[in-house]
Amino acid sequence: MEIREVAVVGLGTMGAGIAEVFARAGIGVVAIEVDAAALGHGLGILEGSLAKAVSRGKLTDAQQAEIWGRIRPAASFSDAARVDLAIEVVPERMEIKRQIFGELDRVCSPEAILATNTSSLSVTAIAAASKHPGRVIGMHFFNPAPVMRLVEVVSTVLSGSALPGQVADLARRLGKTPVQVSDRAGFVANALLLPYLNHAVKLLEAGYASREDIDTAATDGIGLPMGPLALLDLIGLDTALSILQVLQAEFGGPRYTPAPLLRRLADAGRTGRKAGCGLYDYASGARDDGDKAGNEAASSSPSTVTLIGSGRAAEAEFASEVAAAGINVTRNPAHPSDLIVIVAGPDEQVLSAAIATGRPHEAVGLHMAAPGLAEVVSTYMTDPPYAAAAAALAERLGKKTVHTPDRPGFLVGALLYPHLGDAVRMVQDGYASVADVDTAMTLGCGYPQGPFQLLDKAGPAAVLDRLRGMQAGYGDPAFAPPPLLAEHAATGIGFTG
Ligand code: 3HC
Repeated sequence: MEIREVAVVGLGTMGAGIAEVFARAGIGVVAIEVDAAALGHGLGILEGSLAKAVSRGKLTDAQQAEIWGRIRPAASFSDAARVDLAIEVVPERMEIKRQIFGELDRVCSPEAILATNTSSLSVTAIAAASKHPGRVIGMHFFNPAPVMRLVEVVSTVLSGSALPGQVADLARRLGKTPVQVSDRAGFVANALLLPYLNHAVKLLEAGYASREDIDTAATDGIGLPMGPLALLDLIGLDTALSILQVLQAEFGGPRYTPAPLLRRLADAGRTGRKAGCGLYDYASGARDDGDKAGNEAASSSPSTVTLIGSGRAAEAEFASEVAAAGINVTRNPAHPSDLIVIVAGPDEQVLSAAIATGRPHEAVGLHMAAPGLAEVVSTYMTDPPYAAAAAALAERLGKKTVHTPDRPGFLVGALLYPHLGDAVRMVQDGYASVADVDTAMTLGCGYPQGPFQLLDKAGPAAVLDRLRGMQAGYGDPAFAPPPLLAEHAATGIGFTG
């Protein structure tokens, strides 16, 4: 069946993005919003996105007009009478979805495909409410829909046998990569993404690190396109909360228990970018990043540094960078200096080395988490001005910095290793294959490398050690390494090879 015209029901951020994707692929779109103000707002999102593409030279004026001409705004379901596919993109409430599928059943031709973009509800339960459950399918896009290449095609036990293939073909025609997934909580990408995002909010709420540092750790330490807190604001805190609740009901356990801060912000209507504020403020049009830059600039780089380390290559490299910047280096803590820097490895703790210097209040750890990112590690004895001086030193050497307490994994590891553990657990429990997980996260969430590629790069044995360290340090079962990881570590065989 050729898809010539579709209906998109609900023109919020995702609905407008999905409508744009169809129209750009040459498919006519009936854009249905029963509320006039919401329709106007959604069309405004679409118009803005097309105008931006023109201003960036990605579309000509003529192409923009052609795409815009394919979109037919509508305030009533009866306009969907002749469409070949209708997709609902409305808030995640089952009663609203059921009502919409009732309307679509009534007006659409019996051959039309009925799709849901739900990210958290059971597609089977939505299908069961339709008069023709065989034609109901999940077609799950990722935000921003015009950019992210993944579409999860969610079939149910009720789906007609040809339907998943038809929808996968359609996704390819839209320039997307379809991945067939079964109707399980979170499908593949959200089941892995959401516990990681939730953990980031818990770190923020516990005062482990600042909002900006948590996001910088993910972008500059792991290489992800966005930090978890900025991503939560993009997804919507209300949507994230719904997905976590479904995951928690299905799997249980602390990784899925929504962070109280996430719940409170969602309840307060601070749902992210769409509301103008969430974990960050967007009132001025741009993101408010606090006054981090100003704080760091206030502290000047030291002129004499005592360097302590365990003789590894990172330490020698750091020592030569410090010397090359014209800063005096001493190795003896008994000699006077402005600051003691303990060059820490990823598994080391800083406190005992700091105490051994006899000047623990002046001692700060530096862990080179990535070539351009230094983690500034404060023990509970570090005086804050010394941490600021260590950050100023690292910045003088051209590195970005994030502040972290002296806890297992520091900040980058605290975000990354449990996420990799979750990925292994999904494969171990038969939830998804290694390839599906890596495809979902690279194409759905813009990861430059999938979690298993990242894991193999670090080495299964190293990831196992870090998780064991975190589990022992926190006593939290959420960090327990999955047995499959231990097996790969024992054999030395990677996951992707
Ligand atoms: N609409 C349309 N196009 C957009 C866009 C939007 N909202 N935002 C960005 N773009 C386009 C830009 O126009 C630009 O296009 P061009 O390369 O053709 O000029 C391109 O995307 C890159 O944009 P920018 O240069 O402005 O910004 P970045 O390079 O920082 O990329 C990003 C922005 C694509 C959002 C990137 O940060 C990213 O991939 N982030 C991860 C997003 C993610 O994880 N999404 C999935 C969330 S989970 C989900 O949606 C599932 C749901 O169920 C919860």
